Amino acid sequence: MRPQVARIPVTAPATVSRAFAPDSLGQSLTVRGWVLRTRSSGGILFVLLRDRTGVVQLTARRDALGEAAFHAAEAVQVEGALLATGTVHEDRRAPGGREIRASTIEVVDAGAPFPIFQDQTEEFLLDKRHLAIRSQELVSVFRLKAAMLRAFREFLAREEVLEVTPPILTGNAAEGGADAFQVDYFGRPGYLSQTAQLYLEAMIAPHERVYALTPSFRAEKSRTSRHLTEFLMLEVELAWCDLEGLIDFTERMVVEVLHDLARSAPRELEQLGRRPEELTRIVAPFPRWSYTEAVERLKAQGFSLEWGSEFGTAEERALTLESSQPVFVTRFPKEIKAFYMLRTPGDPRTVEAVDLLGPEGYHELVGGSCRETDIPTLLERLRAIGADPASYEWYLDLRRHGNVPHAGFGIGLERFLRFIARREHIRDTTPFPRTPSRHTP
Ligand code: 4AD
Ligand code: MG
Repeated sequence: MRPQVARIPVTAPATVSRAFAPDSLGQSLTVRGWVLRTRSSGGILFVLLRDRTGVVQLTARRDALGEAAFHAAEAVQVEGALLATGTVHEDRRAPGGREIRASTIEVVDAGAPFPIFQDQTEEFLLDKRHLAIRSQELVSVFRLKAAMLRAFREFLAREEVLEVTPPILTGNAAEGGADAFQVDYFGRPGYLSQTAQLYLEAMIAPHERVYALTPSFRAEKSRTSRHLTEFLMLEVELAWCDLEGLIDFTERMVVEVLHDLARSAPRELEQLGRRPEELTRIVAPFPRWSYTEAVERLKAQGFSLEWGSEFGTAEERALTLESSQPVFVTRFPKEIKAFYMLRTPGDPRTVEAVDLLGPEGYHELVGGSCRETDIPTLLERLRAIGADPASYEWYLDLRRHGNVPHAGFGIGLERFLRFIARREHIRDTTPFPRTPSRHTP
């Protein structure tokens, strides 16, 4: 049996990055962290130690540490944890050009042999996801994700959009029901939220401009590199807004968030293979094509599709594959869009919907629309999709009390991050991905 984790004070005086501060040279520091790797040669132990601020090399001499402590430190496994005190020295061979020459090393957890190493299968790494999230690559992704969430919130605060907190457990399936996860709600059907939109529509009367950042669930068996069954959606709903206003708002948000990240997270971007300039080069106005125009473009590229059909994976990708800018596609056939979308004035075939497609063939990132305000039209659309209008009664009620033109959108944050961080698969934009074949660990 391995010994219990040592009792270590949780207030250590320094972070690893402190070793690289100009005034730290020659100073004594105590650092703590996780072991990236160790190596010993000729009575000297080399340890690469990681904490949230970076990596520093520790060196320890057998004679300085004493036989027992040296032996214990030498036995620490990859991802074991330790606490060390020593003096900061220049060393050209060490990462960052400095090392800490340790006088004491206290082993916090020697660790079991770390099961993750090179060339393991994707499935194995997903089984060990709770440990795989320590990789440098995933560390960069989740730091970038945090920066992205901050950037969105700051943009929305500047735009005076109020953050609100809609429910996740709901009594009706907002997007129609087909892809909703059903749960047993004390003997009655309940659903995990697919979208917060209907609740946001209720909240615009008191607040005019609202947003919510919530998990969104889709019981789709889509095994693609851009579908998760649980993802984070940022949804915005704006009173007194038409399609033009919605597109302008979305465009401003995307540009400001991308430019913010180029400034605030250049290191993480570079580590993930995205040059910050590629983000600052994204500027308004983005191309705006109607669905009809997009169909014509696809036909010209050799695709055979009819007006009225949905874009498949290949078609959606082809629309922006050669583009370094995102593209708006507007005014889709009403049959392929949700029941709540406003019919285009003067064109009974289409709705006032807009999708934003990511550059470089990154597919749909944002889906939005103007909302239908006419009760008979909503009833007709609900019946057409086979939904029970009775369970939407509260939603229809919104149209009876201060019914104003309004519009909104949802942006899939893992999809957006997948583009920013240039990830092949969307699962690498979320720490514990949920897909049709996996909901553990
Ligand atoms: O286009 P969607 O389905 O739109 C709605 O749910 C609207 N009610 C939103 C609104 O207007 N308030 O989803 C919005 C976005 C998509 O553009 C996509 O980026 C993302 O959510 N998304 C997914 N992301 C990951 N995995 C999935 N299975 C996704 N489904 C949609
Ligand atoms: Mg959509």
